[in-house]
Amino acid sequence: MNILLTGANGMLGKSIEYWIFKNFPNVKLYSTDIKNLDITNYEQLSIFFDNHPIDIVINCAAYANVDGCEQNPEIAYSVNAAAVGYLAKLTEKYSKKICHISTDYVYAQIGENMPFTEESKLEPLSIYGKSKLLGEKKLMENTDKYFILRTSWMFGFFGENFLKWIYYSSSDKPLRLIVDSFGNPTYSITLSEIIMKIIFTENYGIYNASNFGYTNWYDFGKYILSSAGLTNHKIEKVQSAELKRPAQRPNYSVMNINKIIKTLNYTPPSWQEAVDSCVKILKQKNEF
Ligand SMILES: NC(=O)c1ccc[n+]([C@@H]2O[C@H](COP(=O)([O-])OP(=O)(O)OC[C@H]3O[C@@H](n4cnc5c(N)ncnc54)[C@H](OP(=O)(O)O)[C@@H]3O)[C@@H](O)[C@H]2O)c1
Repeated sequence: MNILLTGANGMLGKSIEYWIFKNFPNVKLYSTDIKNLDITNYEQLSIFFDNHPIDIVINCAAYANVDGCEQNPEIAYSVNAAAVGYLAKLTEKYSKKICHISTDYVYAQIGENMPFTEESKLEPLSIYGKSKLLGEKKLMENTDKYFILRTSWMFGFFGENFLKWIYYSSSDKPLRLIVDSFGNPTYSITLSEIIMKIIFTENYGIYNASNFGYTNWYDFGKYILSSAGLTNHKIEKVQSAELKRPAQRPNYSVMNINKIIKTLNYTPPSWQEAVDSCVKILKQKNEF
């Protein structure tokens, strides 16, 4: 099995690489990132497909900086939308499969206590969400053998993320954490596991994919501190409106993950169990 991994230097890309090396010795992995395979360059992609025997594409390449997308919409649409169409076209041309990562930010705000299913209304608030939604459309227009995994609030031991920010924060100043914004934390290793389960099936389609359960940033941060045994930190509750950020984010962005659970016959660990696993690894190996 030959897998092309794009965006391999990112948080999820590195996690997938780690998971494959640990668990799939027979997979031949072509790990690429913008320096050796720029997914916005159709010609470069086309040459790569011509010269490598790819069976499955896992697209982790993205412009994932939500505020950055607001400031640089042309990069957002180029990487998150047009380039996804290119990958889909080539996947189709060579009759292969593609697994693409999308986001909960594609959904419309439909009110509290209404977790999104894959059929929920789509109405992104930000350029990031809009560009990712257009990417999904371009993918579906160009190939049938796709898995779209909509994920959210990703953390892990690779890359910059909320868990590592809390874990490495100093206790000198109180941490200001949002209380009125809800979502599903997703451990990049859990998502890697889900990806490596779904790609070997023919269950094409769109899936919400995260750890089990949801929370707000305040409780998420509080749990990380307790899991890490960091008892000297103080935390302050803040409302999302108090943080002046360029991109608007949904306040209630909770996903129902029953479809992926049923399809894979696998229930992902709770987000708390996932935090504990990640903290354990950070403690063992203090460098990522
Ligand atoms: N992180 C989250 O909380 C979150 C939540 C929901 C969905 N997602 C989705 O999950 C996926 C993975 O996210 P992530 O957090 O792993 O993102 P990430 O850490 O930013 O990784 C993305 C990678 O793609 C690379 N890249 C950018 N432009 C490229 C191009 N033109 N060609 C090839 N590679 C390119 C980036 O390189 P540079 O760093 O050099 O630009 C980076 O290595 C993305 O689709 C994202 O939208 C993430």
